[in-house]
Amino acid sequence: MSALTHSPAWLALKAHHSVMTTQHLHQLFHDDPSRFEKFSLCFKDILMDFSKQPVTAETVDLLLALAQQQQLQSWIARMFSGDKINATEQRAALHTALRSEQPVYCDGVDVLPDVKRVLKQMERFAISIQSGARRGYSGKIFTDVVNIGIGGSDLGPVMVTEALKPYWVNGIKPHFISNIDGAQLTDTLRHLNPETTLIIIASKTFTTQETLTNAHSARQWFLANGGSEAAIAQHFVAVSTNRTAVTQFGIDPDNMFEFWDWVGGRYSLWSAIGLPIALTTGMDHFYALLAGARGMDRHFATAPLQQNLPVMLGLLGIWQINFYGTASHAVLPYDQSLHRFPAYLQQLEMESNGKRITRDGETADYATGAVVWGEPGTNGQHAFYQLLHQGTQTVSADFLAPCQSQYPVDDHHRMLLANFFAQTEALMTGKTGEEVRAELQKQGLSGPALEQLLPHKIFPGNRPTTSILFKKLDPETLGALIALYEHKVFVQSVIWNINPFDQWGVELGKQLAGKILSELDQTETITSHDASTNGLIQYFKAHR
Ligand code: F6P
Repeated sequence: MSALTHSPAWLALKAHHSVMTTQHLHQLFHDDPSRFEKFSLCFKDILMDFSKQPVTAETVDLLLALAQQQQLQSWIARMFSGDKINATEQRAALHTALRSEQPVYCDGVDVLPDVKRVLKQMERFAISIQSGARRGYSGKIFTDVVNIGIGGSDLGPVMVTEALKPYWVNGIKPHFISNIDGAQLTDTLRHLNPETTLIIIASKTFTTQETLTNAHSARQWFLANGGSEAAIAQHFVAVSTNRTAVTQFGIDPDNMFEFWDWVGGRYSLWSAIGLPIALTTGMDHFYALLAGARGMDRHFATAPLQQNLPVMLGLLGIWQINFYGTASHAVLPYDQSLHRFPAYLQQLEMESNGKRITRDGETADYATGAVVWGEPGTNGQHAFYQLLHQGTQTVSADFLAPCQSQYPVDDHHRMLLANFFAQTEALMTGKTGEEVRAELQKQGLSGPALEQLLPHKIFPGNRPTTSILFKKLDPETLGALIALYEHKVFVQSVIWNINPFDQWGVELGKQLAGKILSELDQTETITSHDASTNGLIQYFKAHR
């Protein structure tokens, strides 16, 4: 057993769970009508209601005791102050510095001047593109921006530009190419005119196979469709920490936007990786996004743990994952604009906390992280909610919605929100056998017909949800929401004693792909792998 699962705070929670597990959420609400007041928190326009989680005041106290035991406050301070808490890579994790207005020191040097310098560079660039001062090789203004990147160099900008569509600058449209599958590149570029297309190659390392391959193909497309070598400098820019590789690729360092190794890929949308956001929505809105995140940073760093939204969101996840054994977590935005938010959180949460070795090098004997997934409501309701309501496993869920729609159309938003409230209520309350029986009798059913149907119509309820409501999905609120989840992930990593800022788990597949790539050109039968992999390679070669 690990030190964590042996620890007093953990054991106290375990004992408390054995009592709580006998209680139905519906009963908890019946016993205490003030649950909403007791178990909801506000930060600016964001309301987080966790009263539909199986918690009592004692649960909260015990979770906070666990946070204290794991020295959460000291870890928060260490992260903000630039300590090298990404120990396996000997790096700080200073994404918060990207939105700071105070000096932040890394290796004794204030990083703020560099951060501000690149923000100014982005601002100048965005203005020059939007105003038409900087144009394509034929003198036409830029109308399309293509971001070529993957993972953190893609998901953040995609998610934010989609979420902030109502803020798009007239006449500039973003496009994203991430997959090495030629389908995405072909489908994106075939609609575009090289004369009016700006291409951003976004890669922290500038070594990622997918991105570099797509970048080379985009270059060929540009040259084959009227562009020239001389015009590349006007149409291609790079965002990276690797100046040498950018130069080797053929991009003038003057057309490079820099960021730093203390920015993790999945935490990088606040850096120059956010260039597509600035180009599409304008730098003012990018600054507002940063301001929203900065507000949440301050809250995370200073609010008492009990009133701290990221802390409580993280601890509720611990309660579900480690004590209730909930292995699946749904993110359900009741806002079509947030349709890529679950995918964004998938990387943020699963790449950060999907680890089995602790900071001390031991194998964790407790779960770290749930499977994160989701789709916007109400589409999900007509697809997978059946399992949430009546399936054999419990899925925890975050429901998110704005009070004001960015797209007010007739009665749509009121209906959307009615569904949000109804679903969280139904998941919590369920429907008992007695209720179903009364309903069926009212419909005129009786005898064997009633008895046969009855069990199918019972809902166990007691399904845990957290509701996050906010006034409107403006850039500032979006920034705060993203930072809320970034810090939630950090809180959980501290409890689990793991490093959320490395990602060694993605390496093995990359290494093997490199070896297999050369084997795909060999004519002889491949025997160097297991029988399945050999067989699959042979089948592919025979049928390509
Ligand atoms: O392979 C995983 C990963 O390293 C992610 O962490 C990262 O966001 C993505 O690849 C892209 O990396 P890069 O920005 O260096 O191309």
